[in-house]
Amino acid sequence: PAPPEEPQLSSFIRTIPDFPVPGIQFRDVTTLFQDARAFRRAVDGLSAPFADRGLEVIAAMDARGFILGGAMAYALGLPFVPIRKKGKLPGTTLMESYTLEYGEASVEIHEDAFAAGARVLLIDDLIATGGTAIAGVRLIERLGGELVAAGFVVDLPDLGGRRKLEAMGVETHVLMA
Ligand code: PRP
Ligand code: ADE
Repeated sequence: PAPPEEPQLSSFIRTIPDFPVPGIQFRDVTTLFQDARAFRRAVDGLSAPFADRGLEVIAAMDARGFILGGAMAYALGLPFVPIRKKGKLPGTTLMESYTLEYGEASVEIHEDAFAAGARVLLIDDLIATGGTAIAGVRLIERLGGELVAAGFVVDLPDLGGRRKLEAMGVETHVLMA
Protein backbone atom coordinates (compact mmCIF):
# COMPACT_ATOMS: atom_id res chain seq x y z
CA PRO A 1 0.00 0.00 0.00
CA ALA A 2 1.09 3.57 -0.71
CA PRO A 3 2.42 5.72 2.14
CA PRO A 4 -0.39 7.96 3.42
CA GLU A 5 1.00 11.11 1.80
CA GLU A 6 1.00 9.51 -1.67
CA PRO A 7 -2.19 9.70 -3.76
CA GLN A 8 -3.73 6.41 -4.89
CA LEU A 9 -2.07 5.20 -8.09
CA SER A 10 -5.52 5.04 -9.71
CA SER A 11 -5.86 8.83 -9.37
CA PHE A 12 -3.13 9.21 -12.02
CA ILE A 13 -5.18 7.44 -14.69
CA ARG A 14 -7.75 9.49 -16.57
CA THR A 15 -10.77 8.19 -18.44
CA ILE A 16 -11.51 9.60 -21.87
CA PRO A 17 -14.97 8.78 -23.26
CA ASP A 18 -15.53 7.54 -26.81
CA PHE A 19 -11.90 6.81 -27.67
CA PRO A 20 -10.86 5.24 -29.99
CA VAL A 21 -14.48 4.53 -30.98
CA PRO A 22 -17.87 5.59 -29.55
CA GLY A 23 -18.86 3.76 -26.37
CA ILE A 24 -15.35 2.98 -25.10
CA GLN A 25 -14.26 4.50 -21.79
CA PHE A 26 -10.54 4.75 -22.52
CA ARG A 27 -8.22 4.43 -19.51
CA ASP A 28 -5.29 6.70 -20.30
CA VAL A 29 -2.04 5.70 -18.56
CA THR A 30 0.04 8.51 -20.11
CA THR A 31 -0.95 10.69 -17.14
CA LEU A 32 0.54 8.09 -14.79
CA PHE A 33 3.77 7.91 -16.82
CA GLN A 34 3.98 11.75 -16.75
CA ASP A 35 4.37 11.66 -12.97
CA ALA A 36 7.83 10.31 -12.14
CA ARG A 37 6.88 9.02 -8.68
CA ALA A 38 3.71 7.34 -9.90
CA PHE A 39 5.59 5.76 -12.82
CA ARG A 40 8.22 4.42 -10.43
CA ARG A 41 5.55 3.10 -8.06
CA ALA A 42 3.87 1.27 -10.94
CA VAL A 43 7.15 -0.31 -12.12
CA ASP A 44 8.11 -1.29 -8.57
CA GLY A 45 4.60 -2.55 -7.79
CA LEU A 46 4.57 -4.80 -10.85
CA SER A 47 8.05 -6.13 -9.98
CA ALA A 48 7.49 -6.70 -6.24
CA PRO A 49 5.74 -10.12 -6.38
CA PHE A 50 8.64 -11.60 -8.38
CA ALA A 51 11.67 -10.92 -6.19
CA ASP A 52 12.30 -14.63 -5.53
CA ARG A 53 10.58 -16.26 -8.49
CA GLY A 54 13.59 -16.94 -10.68
CA LEU A 55 12.44 -14.73 -13.56
CA GLU A 56 14.68 -14.94 -16.62
CA VAL A 57 12.87 -12.79 -19.22
CA ILE A 58 10.45 -9.84 -19.25
CA ALA A 59 8.15 -9.97 -22.29
CA ALA A 60 5.75 -7.09 -22.94
CA MET A 61 2.96 -6.14 -25.33
CA ASP A 62 3.22 -3.41 -27.98
CA ALA A 63 2.98 -0.52 -27.27
CA ARG A 64 2.14 0.65 -23.77
CA GLY A 65 3.41 -2.58 -22.25
CA PHE A 66 6.88 -1.70 -23.56
CA ILE A 67 7.06 1.41 -21.36
CA LEU A 68 6.50 -0.64 -18.21
CA GLY A 69 8.24 -3.85 -19.24
CA GLY A 70 11.34 -2.04 -20.47
CA ALA A 71 11.69 -0.18 -17.18
CA MET A 72 11.16 -3.43 -15.24
CA ALA A 73 13.75 -5.33 -17.27
CA TYR A 74 16.29 -2.55 -16.69
CA ALA A 75 15.55 -2.40 -12.95
CA LEU A 76 15.63 -6.19 -12.53
CA GLY A 77 18.66 -6.71 -14.78
CA LEU A 78 16.73 -9.03 -17.11
CA PRO A 79 16.45 -9.38 -20.88
CA PHE A 80 13.49 -7.66 -22.57
CA VAL A 81 11.42 -9.29 -25.32
CA PRO A 82 8.94 -7.19 -27.32
CA ILE A 83 5.72 -8.79 -28.59
CA ARG A 84 5.01 -6.43 -31.48
CA LYS A 85 2.09 -5.61 -33.71
CA LYS A 86 2.28 -7.56 -36.98
CA GLY A 87 4.83 -6.54 -39.56
CA LYS A 88 7.27 -4.69 -37.30
CA LEU A 89 9.76 -7.37 -36.24
CA PRO A 90 12.51 -7.93 -38.81
CA GLY A 91 13.47 -11.54 -38.07
CA THR A 92 11.54 -14.80 -38.39
CA THR A 93 8.41 -14.62 -36.22
CA LEU A 94 5.47 -16.53 -34.81
CA MET A 95 2.08 -14.75 -35.03
CA GLU A 96 -1.23 -14.78 -33.15
CA SER A 97 -4.40 -12.91 -34.16
CA TYR A 98 -7.00 -11.79 -31.63
CA THR A 99 -9.89 -9.45 -30.89
CA LEU A 100 -9.73 -6.76 -28.23
CA GLU A 101 -12.25 -4.37 -26.69
CA TYR A 102 -12.31 -2.13 -29.78
CA GLY A 103 -11.07 -4.16 -32.73
CA GLU A 104 -8.80 -6.88 -34.05
CA ALA A 105 -5.06 -7.19 -34.31
CA SER A 106 -2.15 -9.59 -34.76
CA VAL A 107 1.04 -9.72 -32.75
CA GLU A 108 4.38 -11.39 -33.36
CA ILE A 109 7.42 -12.56 -31.44
CA HIS A 110 10.85 -13.44 -32.79
CA GLU A 111 11.24 -17.21 -32.91
CA ASP A 112 14.64 -16.89 -31.19
CA ALA A 113 13.48 -14.40 -28.53
CA PHE A 114 14.41 -16.73 -25.66
CA ALA A 115 15.50 -20.32 -25.08
CA ALA A 116 12.88 -23.04 -24.51
CA GLY A 117 12.26 -23.42 -20.79
CA ALA A 118 13.00 -19.76 -19.97
CA ARG A 119 10.96 -18.38 -17.07
CA VAL A 120 9.00 -15.47 -18.58
CA LEU A 121 6.89 -12.70 -17.03
CA LEU A 122 4.36 -11.08 -19.41
CA ILE A 123 3.62 -7.36 -18.88
CA ASP A 124 1.03 -4.95 -20.29
CA ASP A 125 -0.50 -1.71 -19.05
CA LEU A 126 -4.08 -2.96 -19.05
CA ILE A 127 -6.25 -6.05 -19.39
CA ALA A 128 -9.77 -5.64 -20.75
CA THR A 129 -11.20 -8.59 -22.72
CA GLY A 130 -7.90 -10.42 -22.38
CA GLY A 131 -7.56 -10.93 -26.13
CA THR A 132 -4.20 -9.21 -26.30
CA ALA A 133 -2.75 -10.90 -23.22
CA ILE A 134 -3.94 -14.36 -24.32
CA ALA A 135 -2.22 -13.84 -27.68
CA GLY A 136 0.97 -12.99 -25.76
CA VAL A 137 0.59 -16.08 -23.57
CA ARG A 138 0.15 -18.29 -26.64
CA LEU A 139 3.28 -16.91 -28.30
CA ILE A 140 5.35 -17.44 -25.15
CA GLU A 141 4.03 -20.99 -24.82
CA ARG A 142 4.58 -21.77 -28.54
CA LEU A 143 8.25 -20.82 -28.03
CA GLY A 144 8.47 -23.25 -25.11
CA GLY A 145 8.66 -20.52 -22.47
CA GLU A 146 7.61 -21.21 -18.92
CA LEU A 147 5.09 -18.45 -18.21
CA VAL A 148 5.59 -17.50 -14.57
CA ALA A 149 2.79 -14.91 -14.46
CA ALA A 150 1.22 -11.92 -16.18
CA GLY A 151 1.15 -8.42 -14.69
CA PHE A 152 -0.93 -5.33 -15.54
CA VAL A 153 -1.37 -1.88 -14.03
CA VAL A 154 -5.12 -1.78 -14.77
CA ASP A 155 -7.78 -4.50 -14.85
CA LEU A 156 -11.21 -3.75 -16.29
CA PRO A 157 -13.01 -6.59 -14.48
CA ASP A 158 -16.35 -6.14 -16.28
CA LEU A 159 -14.66 -7.28 -19.50
CA GLY A 160 -13.53 -10.58 -17.98
CA GLY A 161 -9.95 -10.81 -19.26
CA ARG A 162 -8.37 -11.52 -15.92
CA ARG A 163 -10.87 -14.31 -15.22
CA LYS A 164 -10.10 -15.86 -18.63
CA LEU A 165 -6.35 -15.75 -18.03
CA GLU A 166 -6.74 -17.30 -14.58
CA ALA A 167 -9.03 -19.99 -16.01
CA MET A 168 -6.14 -20.87 -18.35
CA GLY A 169 -3.96 -21.34 -15.26
CA VAL A 170 -2.05 -18.06 -15.66
CA GLU A 171 -1.11 -16.39 -12.37
CA THR A 172 -2.28 -12.79 -12.83
CA HIS A 173 -1.29 -9.65 -10.92
CA VAL A 174 -2.91 -6.22 -11.23
CA LEU A 175 -2.22 -2.95 -9.42
CA MET A 176 -5.80 -1.65 -9.63
CA ALA A 177 -9.25 -2.74 -10.82
C1 PRP B 1 -4.56 -1.85 -25.37
C2 PRP B 1 -3.84 -2.15 -24.07
C3 PRP B 1 -3.75 -3.64 -24.09
C4 PRP B 1 -5.03 -4.07 -24.80
C5 PRP B 1 -6.02 -4.61 -23.84
O1 PRP B 1 -3.64 -1.85 -26.42
O2 PRP B 1 -2.58 -1.50 -24.01
O3 PRP B 1 -2.61 -4.08 -24.85
O4 PRP B 1 -5.52 -2.89 -25.47
O5 PRP B 1 -7.24 -4.95 -24.42
P1 PRP B 1 -7.85 -6.44 -24.41
O6 PRP B 1 -7.66 -7.01 -23.03
O7 PRP B 1 -9.31 -6.25 -24.75
O8 PRP B 1 -7.11 -7.23 -25.44
P2 PRP B 1 -3.96 -1.44 -27.92
O9 PRP B 1 -4.28 -2.66 -28.70
O10 PRP B 1 -4.94 -0.32 -27.94
O11 PRP B 1 -2.53 -0.97 -28.46
P3 PRP B 1 -1.47 0.16 -28.09
O12 PRP B 1 -0.79 -0.27 -26.80
O13 PRP B 1 -0.56 0.09 -29.26
O14 PRP B 1 -2.18 1.46 -27.92
N1 ADE C 1 -7.56 -1.55 -24.14
C1 ADE C 1 -8.74 -2.20 -24.24
N2 ADE C 1 -9.73 -1.53 -23.65
C2 ADE C 1 -9.16 -0.39 -23.15
C3 ADE C 1 -9.66 0.72 -22.44
N3 ADE C 1 -10.96 0.79 -22.09
N4 ADE C 1 -8.81 1.72 -22.11
C4 ADE C 1 -7.50 1.63 -22.47
N5 ADE C 1 -6.97 0.61 -23.15
C5 ADE C 1 -7.79 -0.39 -23.48
